[in-house]
Amino acid sequence: MRFDAFSRPAAAQRSDCLVIGAFERGELGAEGLAVDRRVRGRVRRLLSSGDFSGHTGETLLLPEVPGVAAGRLLLIGLGNKAQFNRRGWRRALQTAIAALARTRIASAAIALERPGAAELDGYYLGRSIAEITGASLYRVNDLKTGRRARAPALARVLVGPVAAAAIAEVRRGLAAGAALSESARLLRNLGNLPANVCTPRYLAAQARELERSYRRRLRVRVFDEAGIRRLKMGCLLAVTRGSAEPPRFIVLDYRGARRSRPPLVLVGKGVTFDTGGISLKDPPAMDEMKYDMCGAATVLAAIDFAARTGLKINLVGLIPTCENMPDGRAVKPGDIVTSASGQTVEILNTDAEGRLILCDALNYARRYQPEAVVDFATLTGACIIALGNHHSGVMANDDALARELVEAGVRTDDRAWQLPLTEEYGEQLRSNFADMANIAGREGGAITAAAFLGKFTQGMRWAHMDIAGSAWAGGAAKGATGRPLSLVADFLTRRAAGSKS
Ligand code: BES
Ligand code: MN
Ligand code: ZN
Repeated sequence: MRFDAFSRPAAAQRSDCLVIGAFERGELGAEGLAVDRRVRGRVRRLLSSGDFSGHTGETLLLPEVPGVAAGRLLLIGLGNKAQFNRRGWRRALQTAIAALARTRIASAAIALERPGAAELDGYYLGRSIAEITGASLYRVNDLKTGRRARAPALARVLVGPVAAAAIAEVRRGLAAGAALSESARLLRNLGNLPANVCTPRYLAAQARELERSYRRRLRVRVFDEAGIRRLKMGCLLAVTRGSAEPPRFIVLDYRGARRSRPPLVLVGKGVTFDTGGISLKDPPAMDEMKYDMCGAATVLAAIDFAARTGLKINLVGLIPTCENMPDGRAVKPGDIVTSASGQTVEILNTDAEGRLILCDALNYARRYQPEAVVDFATLTGACIIALGNHHSGVMANDDALARELVEAGVRTDDRAWQLPLTEEYGEQLRSNFADMANIAGREGGAITAAAFLGKFTQGMRWAHMDIAGSAWAGGAAKGATGRPLSLVADFLTRRAAGSKS
């Protein structure tokens, strides 16, 4: 896909199709009116005929409109004019790309009304156009045996009209968004793969693949079971015990800034399938536990994005990965294990496995004396109860770091919400037999899980993102969403910009 910006009047821009929007009750915005003048009122006459209502989601494709340089004109409903905002614009853009993908149109000029610059500046305009185009054209790599649908012809997307002075900024955004959609494709593909394909070894092979693509700046190291034992990661070993698939601990080291600068460490939960173990889960929707490695995939995709765009930042990715299975050899409720940090853990529920594999990885992060550590995990059902599917959860021992993540989520419409992580929650993890238990009752479950992790991150600036509700969608539209990559990419880009490499 190629992207560019243009500054001539939209009606004069050549392409296979010009895309404009119209509000309900025949109202047009500034961009729509400009085009309408060029076509001598044809758009308005069409609207007043009542053939196009302007409701959200509505589309109308018109061939060869005199006055329009493009081969076709695509009208998109923008809904109520008074309520139009950035979210409405994003939805209109999604609708437009989906409509274009159903045709043989190869190039499109997008001149949809947009929210004001305060809501969407040039950079984020470009970034969103490229990102939404990529996301809307994403197709699951399925194993259906019937005839494949033809791939969309769309290969070139232009955005405008953009003031000449802003064009460089829009292009910068388009480049970032194009890179981001490539990385998001990797993330979504990994999430959507079945667990019999996407195993710990498969994730390790993916990391090696990234190393091959970005040789100059990326180094990968993979620990097998014996290596993990040498690292004394007793909690990761406990989770993997019941599985016939061997575990891996993956370390990715991306150097984009000067060597002496401490890295940012990203940690991702890589449970490639979570049955719950001996504390077996109920059958409904258990298949969705193939998505329990979305934290790991987020880390791989974030490093792919950093390397692809050459971000001037040092990044370390840590991925503990295994399956959680019931078996004669599996870890049992009440078993006590020793983590890599030396602290002992009583495993009261084998289904609280994510925190177990993460605690050993978080402890490993310490050796880098990192600038900060952020972990990503589909960690708790409780986070979905607290925030639904709209916000990822953020918990941190450093409020400034939490704020950076939350604000990156606002800028990218990939939202996250901070939950409190005060001492009381950690106290709920008391065990009679070990330094701590791995569960603490139902109440505040997302936070007590974070409090468990917090016992392994003392002295480091650390934030935890619970993406259980955001990483994938269930139901009829089941699939990986690509979240929270957009947030993370923005967070990393800002951090890199604030640095002296
Ligand atoms: N992977 C799950 C969390 C999860 C569940 C994410 C459902 C998305 C949808 C995690 O390993 C888990 O099982 N957590 C338990 C913790 C409990 C046993 C304390 C949970 O949330 O029920
Ligand atoms: Mn579990
Ligand atoms: Zn899990």
